[in-house]
Order: sequence, then structure tokens, then C-alpha cells
Amino acid sequence: MTIIVTGGAGFIGSNFIFYMLKKHNNYRIICLDKLTYAGNLSTLASVMDNSNFRFVKEDICNREAVYKLFEEEKPDVVINFAAESHVDRSIENPSIFLQTNIMGTAVLMDACRKYGITRYHQVSTDEVYGDLPLDRPDLFFTENTPIHTSSPYSSSKAGADLLVLAYYRTYGLPVTISRCSNNYGPYHFPEKLIPLMIINALSDKSLPVYGKGVNVRDWLYVEDHCKAIDMIVHKGKVGEVYNVGGHNEMRNIDIVKMICKILNKPESLITYVTDRKGHDMRYAIDPTKINDELGWFPETKFVDGIQKTVQWYLDNRSWWETIINGEYQNYYKKMYNR
Ligand code: NAD
Ligand code: TYD
Repeated sequence: MTIIVTGGAGFIGSNFIFYMLKKHNNYRIICLDKLTYAGNLSTLASVMDNSNFRFVKEDICNREAVYKLFEEEKPDVVINFAAESHVDRSIENPSIFLQTNIMGTAVLMDACRKYGITRYHQVSTDEVYGDLPLDRPDLFFTENTPIHTSSPYSSSKAGADLLVLAYYRTYGLPVTISRCSNNYGPYHFPEKLIPLMIINALSDKSLPVYGKGVNVRDWLYVEDHCKAIDMIVHKGKVGEVYNVGGHNEMRNIDIVKMICKILNKPESLITYVTDRKGHDMRYAIDPTKINDELGWFPETKFVDGIQKTVQWYLDNRSWWETIINGEYQNYYKKMYNR
């Protein structure tokens, strides 16, 4: 089987490539990635010499280049991780989100139609459902929850999801969609909550918690997400959406305190800063469908996953130091010094 994985130089895509090359040693994996600020070729260093792997630096919006790659590689499956993925950046500059997340998805699916594939899988997010109130712990996102987005990021992901389902209905393209909750683990870009707090705490810098820190996210260890996508691609029903999550809801402030504890840093580093505009209160996935239909269940408990993740950042300083010493400095100043 030949699989094109887009966005494979980013956080989840790279973890997925490692998972797939290990699990299916007869699969050929082609990573198509533009290497934006969030893509890092050094992340893929350990697989660059693997004869089942090829890296192609390209934009998913570049129709000509995408078609050329399909002609060369004749993929069976395409899994689209490529996206602009950070909510705060989408609030600053929405247009690149529309371009990559919606137009890029259209280009990939057009290529799938033209050259023929057995599956197009769209890696989406629970953020397309909007948010849930804090005082209704009985409510969860199911696959039937209406799309109701808050940020330009989630709106662009929702737009892409609708387009994917339209290509299924209109052209019969064999698609699936996964909508996962917040991931954490190795190679997570330092602009996101968990790596940002680990890295700041390690240098005794302040830990910027938005608002009161009571917003809730439903955290899943990245390898569990990779396993779910592998299962959906192999056993999932065409035209279906699968929610992915493991009932692990936590308040931001409790995560930050946990990181302080693991690293033996004082909670006095915590600083409450101006809240994110339109900040979603609570995300919570109901994973009944993927549990029942595909037999997927998460394996890593949060207490273990967060320890492993902190240890990874301790063991891989050069990976994140290179990032935070570059363009990231300007981003950080712009976002946090105002
Ligand atoms: P990321 O920002 O770490 O990585 C995105 C990757 O896509 C980077 O390697 C980047 O270079 C590449 N890319 C961006 N624009 C591109 C373009 N135009 N052409 C080709 N490549 C391009 O993101 P992530 O956290 O790994 O998320 C991957 C996917 O999973 C996204 O679609 C995201 O919406 C979705 N998702 C993420 C989470 C999460 O918690 N991080 C949860 C659910 C779903
Ligand atoms: P983030 O990692 O950006 O993921 P998402 O917004 O897609 O859920 O943020 C997770 C939560 O942490 C979210 O409620 C915003 C909050 N947050 C902070 O409090 N401080 C920060 O510096 C960041 C980046 C996020």
C-alpha cells in the first residue's frame, strides 16, 4: 500500500509516520509538507533513510505539483494532516487558514478524483462543534452535534469537513473524517499550551494562563490518535465521521500546575493574562461510535502520558531550542508582551 501523508513534518503527522512505518513494514509512506513555521525536517531525521519513506517539500495548494506527485506515486490512500493549526494565529491572520485548510483540501481531493484512490482521510478536530458550557458536564460532542464554530481556525476546518462530505455525496469519493480532541506528546510545537508551559517552566519564565484558566480541554496522547486514524483508514466506513477522544477532560490551570509539580517549579510562575478572543469554554468527546464500531480505546493514561511528554522535552532540548531561538521569538513577543 502507498500512502501520501500531508503535513507529516508537523506534530501529529510525524508521530503518525513513525507509527505506520513501524506497524506496517511493507507500506510506502510519502510525506508531502510545505515546511511552514510548524513543519520541521529534523523531526523526520530518523526515517529519512528508510527505503519505505520519501519526503516531498510542497504546498498542498499547488495543484500542478500535487497532480505530478500523484502521477509519480499512484497512492492508494491519502491522509490529510496538513493545516494551519493554531487558534491564536488564526485570530491574527485568518486568510492563510482558509487557503491551506479549505483550498488545500479541495486540491488534494481533486487529485484523488483524477487519479483514483481507495481512501481519502481528513484529519479534523472536535473544535468544529464549538464549545460546551462548564455547568453541563452531562453534555458531550457526538458525530451528530451540529457544526458551530468559534474561531477562524475551527471555521476553516469545518469548511473543509463539509467539502469532504460533499465530495463523497457528489462524486462518490471514498472519504472518512476523524474529529479528535486536543493531542499532546513528542514534537508538539512550542506555541501550544503543554509544550509552551514545559519549556517556559524549564527556563523559569512566567507561565501565561489565559483568563482564569478554567477552560476545559479533553486531552489524548498523540499515539492513541495515530492508532485511531490507522483503524479508521483500514476498517472505517466510507462517508462516515468518527469522533476520537478518551474522556480525559482537564482545566488548563490544573495542567499547568501538574507541569510545575513534575518539574519541581513554583506555581508562582503562573501569570494570568488577557483571555483569548472568543475562547471556547469546554471540549468533550463522546467516543462511543469508534469504541463500538472499530474497537478503538486509548491506551495511555494522562498521568503517564504527561510524564513521558515532559521527559521527552527534557531529553530533546536541541529540537525545541532551535525552534524557540528562531522566528518563534518574534511570535512570542507579539502575542505575549502586549
Ligand atoms: P502542526 O501545526 O504541528 O503541523 C502542521 C503541518 O502541516 C506542518 O508540518 C506544516 O508544515 C504543514 N503544512 C501547513 N500548511 C501546509 C501546506 N499548505 N501544504 C503542505 N503542508 C503544510 O499541526 P498538528 O497539531 O500536527 O495538526 C495536524 C492536523 O490535526 C491538523 O489538520 C489539525 O487541524 C488536526 N488536529 C490537531 C489537534 C491537536 O491537538 N494538535 C487535534 C485534532 C486535530
Ligand atoms: P492550545 O494548545 O492553543 O489548543 P486549543 O486552543 O486548540 O485547544 O490551547 C489549549 C488551551 O490552553 C486553550 O484553552 C487556551 C489555553 N492557553 C493558555 O491558557 N495559555 C497559552 O499560552 C496557550 C498557548 C493556550
